[in-house]
Amino acid sequence: MKKIEIVEIGPRDGFQSVKEFIPTEVKLDVIDGLVRAGLKKIEATSFVSPKAIAQMRDAGEICRVVREKYPQTAWFVLIPNFYGAKAAVEAGIQEVSPVVSLSVSHNKANVNRTHEESIEEIKKIRGEFPDLQITLDVATVFGCPFEGRMAVPPLIDLLGKLHGSGIRAFTLCDTIGVAYPNQVRAVMEAVQKAFSDCVFNLHIHDTRNMGIINTYEGVKCGAASVQTSVAGLGGCPFAPGASGNTSTEDFAYMMAQEGYETGIDFPILLETAKKLHGCAQGSYSGHHIHINAAHQDFTR
Ligand code: COA
Ligand code: ZN
Repeated sequence: MKKIEIVEIGPRDGFQSVKEFIPTEVKLDVIDGLVRAGLKKIEATSFVSPKAIAQMRDAGEICRVVREKYPQTAWFVLIPNFYGAKAAVEAGIQEVSPVVSLSVSHNKANVNRTHEESIEEIKKIRGEFPDLQITLDVATVFGCPFEGRMAVPPLIDLLGKLHGSGIRAFTLCDTIGVAYPNQVRAVMEAVQKAFSDCVFNLHIHDTRNMGIINTYEGVKCGAASVQTSVAGLGGCPFAPGASGNTSTEDFAYMMAQEGYETGIDFPILLETAKKLHGCAQGSYSGHHIHINAAHQDFTR
């Protein structure tokens, strides 16, 4: 059976898009459902400035609880800078995703840094924490809310600099959900050709209902893993127009039908999605209206 690694990012990308603070125990309850549903790798939260995203102010507590409760799960977190890396290490986290945007203007809006400053910071993180696993999030790979469609050559250029800083794992992110399958294919082929010693994951938003097809295209093009969000909740507060992510339950459902082993228990995942939908008013991918209808388990 074909295998695909589905990485759950709802507790970070999903929760960060919700303005009103979600009580920590509600977050933990959703995470609990995700673990029970069989997700093996989960982005637990992010260590960012509470002035930037107040929703993530309980990052330390979330990490403490989930690591203790579920030591078998591969927990990782998003970080914007060295400060975040240090906080993550102190919380016992072994893998971080620093975020750098391909577009200079989104990098400034999101983490208040130039490319050069971000790269310097990544070198410092690499040097200071040699055992820390780093999978770098490249944001706005397919399009930027300020600069429009992004081209492949500047991506290769940026990846080259990050490669020079010792990074070998990347997650290519369609931050505002403007990618289309041909673009996904062109980008995946170009990066794999240029950096054969690296792994590339894909992270897609669902602004135009193309989340699922773009994510599937990534799988067909050799993405090491794909990131999806429970109930399709997601969005970057610093990217105007960003909407929800490809939803984990829709994607897991499709992949099971397509003959892939996902390791996911669909009914538990759906139940978790419904619960989340009932308690967090946020930015969901287009599919969410179907949650209540799709109660039947056709996956087995
Ligand atoms: N976690 C918690 N606090 C942090 C922090 C972090 N990772 N990084 C910086 N801070 C605090 C500093 O201590 C400082 O606090 P003070 O004002 O009380 O002194 C304040 O934030 C500003 O620090 P500074 O390094 O000058 O910030 P900056 O303006 O250079 O950078 C970021 C701002 C990067 C910290 C902020 O924009 C951020 O956290 N962005 C996250 C973006 C994000 O998560 N986007 C969505 C995911 S793609
Ligand atoms: Zn995202």
